[in-house]
Amino acid sequence: MPATSASPCPAPQVPLLQARELDKSYGGIRALDAVSLDIWRGEIFGLIGPNGAGKTTFFDVLTGFCVADAGGIVFDRVVLPQGEPQAAARRGIARSFQNARLFTDLSARENVLIGLHTRLQSGLLGALARGLRTRAEERAAHARAEALLAYTGIAQHADTAAGSLPYGDQRRLEIARALAAEPQLLALDEPAAGMNATETAELAALVRRIRADGTTVLLIEHDMALVMTLCDRVAVLDSGRLIAQGSPAEVQRDPAVIAAYLGSGRHGA
Ligand SMILES: Nc1ncnc2c1ncn2[C@@H]1O[C@H](COP(=O)(O)OP(=O)(O)O)[C@@H](O)[C@H]1O
Ligand SMILES: [Mg+2]
Repeated sequence: MPATSASPCPAPQVPLLQARELDKSYGGIRALDAVSLDIWRGEIFGLIGPNGAGKTTFFDVLTGFCVADAGGIVFDRVVLPQGEPQAAARRGIARSFQNARLFTDLSARENVLIGLHTRLQSGLLGALARGLRTRAEERAAHARAEALLAYTGIAQHADTAAGSLPYGDQRRLEIARALAAEPQLLALDEPAAGMNATETAELAALVRRIRADGTTVLLIEHDMALVMTLCDRVAVLDSGRLIAQGSPAEVQRDPAVIAAYLGSGRHGA
């Protein structure tokens, strides 16, 4: 029997994302106030809180759309540069927006192709891909776009202009485009907003499949029932501060969370 003392120690687990003491103010408003949180690989992590709590600002800092006043993010063991959306994308962070940002005049397929193209264009491999681009590669990109549209349940709308799609399908198209980048972390900002109950259930199934296929998911969501059934862990923001963190059940019965939601008088995400 081999000596167990000779076996190597397993490497300590490190969270995929470590946000530390993030501050962000807009004028006198503290949108983020010393926010620290960890997201583990393979989680569906929910970020909730009343309207104006700072959820989208957290996404903006994470994805390079704005720069924190203080603090930082370590992603996949390396400090993430701030204010550089392309760098965040290259590192494997993709997002959808609270208000879908699609090329409304282009077809669904073309929107996904742009997502694929952006990926090919970035970095050294991108430069090679540009140089070596062949019709076979174009065909492969089209096939990949078709596959992503099918994966997100909108294959039948491939040729429809994005702006003509029903709202729920626009959200799916945003997810398809984000997945084109093959992200490690998919950050979704209120993806179920504007969806009916059936669409929301289908979205939940899609998010579960995305996670099962190996992508970590960070979800800002307005629909509390969805957050509670979908998320492994939840963090709650209120006025820029992290007021609770834990399992959905723990967070739901936390007095500070209940007070924040009742106090806001609004049903924020
Ligand atoms: N670009 C901006 N300029 C000025 N104020 C902003 C900006 N973005 C967000 N805020 C303010 O920061 C606070 C947090 O906003 P946000 O992150 O969008 O909240 P949430 O997504 O939780 O609803 C709000 O008071 C909002 O008005
Ligand atoms: Mg928001």
